[in-house]
Amino acid sequence: MAGIIVVGAQWGDEGKGKVVDVFSAHADLVVRYQGGANAGHTLVVNGVKTVLHLVPSGILHAKTMCMIAAGVVLDLEEVIKEIRDLKEAGVLTNPEQLKISDQCTALLSYHRKIDAAREAKAGLEKIGTTGRGIGPAYEDRASRKAILFGDLFDRERLRAKLEASLDEKNFMLTHYYKQEPVEVEPLYQRMLEMAAELEPYRSRDTSLLIHRALKSGKKVLFEGAQGTMLDLLHGTYPFVTSSSTLSGSACVGSGIGPSLMQKIVGITKAYTTRVGSGPFPTELDNELGDRLRREGGEFGATTGRPRRCGWLDLVALKYAIRVNGITSLALMKLDVLSGHERIDVCTAYRLDGQEIKELPVNSSDLSRVEPVYKSLAGWSDDLRNVRSIQDLPQAARDLIQFVASEVATPIDVVSVGPGREQTLWIKPLFS
Ligand code: GDP
Ligand code: IMO
Ligand code: MG
Repeated sequence: MAGIIVVGAQWGDEGKGKVVDVFSAHADLVVRYQGGANAGHTLVVNGVKTVLHLVPSGILHAKTMCMIAAGVVLDLEEVIKEIRDLKEAGVLTNPEQLKISDQCTALLSYHRKIDAAREAKAGLEKIGTTGRGIGPAYEDRASRKAILFGDLFDRERLRAKLEASLDEKNFMLTHYYKQEPVEVEPLYQRMLEMAAELEPYRSRDTSLLIHRALKSGKKVLFEGAQGTMLDLLHGTYPFVTSSSTLSGSACVGSGIGPSLMQKIVGITKAYTTRVGSGPFPTELDNELGDRLRREGGEFGATTGRPRRCGWLDLVALKYAIRVNGITSLALMKLDVLSGHERIDVCTAYRLDGQEIKELPVNSSDLSRVEPVYKSLAGWSDDLRNVRSIQDLPQAARDLIQFVASEVATPIDVVSVGPGREQTLWIKPLFS
């Protein structure tokens, strides 16, 4: 039994895609269990970049099977595009490499339309969503009106569900958002076409397949999307996504019990980024923040938006370790900190004149905290060609040691560049 959950420990974009790709060399199965095409996971292999939004990040390994489980909101147009691109690149050569659960919520053009209209109406109060229709699709699921991926293969049921759904959505689109309605017939016809194209990837029960794999000793990775602070219940509400991004969601989203999980690996950058609105205590709205953005290439993999940048926040990281039960960390993008004379790390907050070490869960309190920093010595060496922890400059090793000891959690992996080979192992993944 070896279920390993890879979860974002910050506000997303920590480098989960890279870690899952690297880990996948040793995995039999990789499962996406929540979120949708709001995710943008970047893999760099032999200098070639692949950005995945829905297909799991194990797909570049021919022998690793990938699954999209029930908890995902499946953007049908997007997954088709991704599959076509992967086929063209010679990667996805056999439909057995990718299975999509019948239980996934289908995400359609009208979800994106409602997402965009809602954000436009909110003006300055907007969440800054990725515009991928995530909120409206999960709303459909919660209100029990969702069209499921499996419905695509039953023409009559599909037609009835689409009509019912558009009846309501069009009322909202035209009357409330003053938008054009979505017509049933062309969308229905398009869905039939998409059903035909996606049928080879269809699985009636991914939970059963994952369960069998785990029980027979296969190694299964569960690939989280977004990050802890974007969790619907435990993130910086309302500036969050519409799914649970925590490790527990791996169980719920894939239909696997917690007792089958072995490890929970939290992914964190050596600094912090956030894209979209909401509190961000260590944000550097200055030249230093611009420098992190420039040197870290901090522009969204899904939307291209510039990411907000700041120092590493250990109060938030400790919170992530707690709410996810993280057993070890991967520390990403250490190379980006090269050349800074001093590196600040936030070890506490000040709120209403008091120093606190626990993250205030209320967003309005979190937006008022002042970070308390520990200043560490930097290094000038370029780390991108370093291939073992021992070869890192002392100051970089001190930073790793400091973080691990402050958050009382081992750092098993350190990353010094986007490429697979730029990965330094402290402890092997599967012992
Ligand atoms: P994800 O959403 O968590 O998978 O992360 P993204 O792919 O959205 O963003 C991470 C970005 O950092 C991507 O462009 C990666 O190629 C890149 N990256 C990952 N690890 C490293 C690293 O150690 N150093 C540098 N410089 N870039 C990295
Ligand atoms: P990956 O998996 C970073 C953010 C959006 C916005 C909020 C809600 O690549 O780490 P949504 O479209 O989900 O309704 O937007 O969540 N967001 C992400 N930020 N990485 C992501 O995914 C994100 N997915 C959503 O920017 O603030
Ligand atoms: Mg991303």
